[in-house]
Amino acid sequence: MIIYSRNRRLRTNATIRSLVQETVLTTNDLVMPIFVMEGSNTQEPIPSMPGIYRRTLDLTVKECQELYRMGVKAVNLYMKVSENLKDNKGTESWNNNGLMQTTIKAIKDAVPGMIVIPDVALDPYSIYGHDGIITNGKVDNDATNDALVKMSLSHAEAGADILAPSDMMDGRVAAIRTGLEEGGFTDVGILSYAAKYASSFYGPFRSALDSAPKENADIPKDKKTYQMDFHNSREAMDEVLKDVAEGADIIMIKPGMPYLDIVAKVREAIDLPIAVYNVSGEYAMLKAAAQNGWLDNDKAIIESLTCIKRAGADMIFTYAAKEAAILLNQ
Ligand code: PBG
Repeated sequence: MIIYSRNRRLRTNATIRSLVQETVLTTNDLVMPIFVMEGSNTQEPIPSMPGIYRRTLDLTVKECQELYRMGVKAVNLYMKVSENLKDNKGTESWNNNGLMQTTIKAIKDAVPGMIVIPDVALDPYSIYGHDGIITNGKVDNDATNDALVKMSLSHAEAGADILAPSDMMDGRVAAIRTGLEEGGFTDVGILSYAAKYASSFYGPFRSALDSAPKENADIPKDKKTYQMDFHNSREAMDEVLKDVAEGADIIMIKPGMPYLDIVAKVREAIDLPIAVYNVSGEYAMLKAAAQNGWLDNDKAIIESLTCIKRAGADMIFTYAAKEAAILLNQ
């Protein structure tokens, strides 16, 4: 029998395969999320995220120098906020001498080329563990936006390159953009978490920052009144197009691996860069399987990140950024 089309011809050897390879992962695609805590010369492992630490500022700066040398040139910052600094409004989040602001300055001083992307959201600063201010037992959209603008301005003042609002309040991209323009920060970018789903895959992250919604208070027990319902896809497009119209520079889809259908669909629809967040739970699953010898750690990391890029990501926020850089540099 004559088979006219044989796909295996182009898989014959590694050189031919490399000629027809469609997606290439490089260190330029990686953004490393970093957890910072008060103190000096200390790092604490996060048990649910093997290989990931909360570090004091001095060690964080060293880590950033190392990441930069390896080709990871963007970091996404999260603060572990002391309980005594938390309140309902997240007041500490716009303290110009707060841990976030000090960290942004220190990284930009030590590694000027590093793109610093602070998280803009109230949950690590909130006594309730919500991304918004609570008014009458509900997450108050517009009051939260006012707080996010103050927080954004203080991050910009500290030298942040790109702000990453991860809260999912309506209208906050427009509010932050207006605040930045009026404040003279015309070059500060906004990477908006446009389609962020209410997901069980954020568990390890919340334990890292102790930022989960509080069980005992008379408040919503989860984030479903602002983060998206995982049953929905069309709604993601509506969220994305609104953030584009409000002035976002980069659009984030989150989580990553279980949501690549959304990434591919958004990729078809918009021309702005897309960031995908390979979240803490995805990382924890991979690590748990690898530690049991059930998966090859290195191969699974490179495959999952490459597949996220294949789906349409221009950049990937991943806890595996450093490990991936080591592998890619070999
Ligand atoms: C909160 C925030 C979360 C993450 C990033 N910013 C958790 C949440 O929405 O509860 C999750 C990151 C991860 O799981 O890796 N603003």
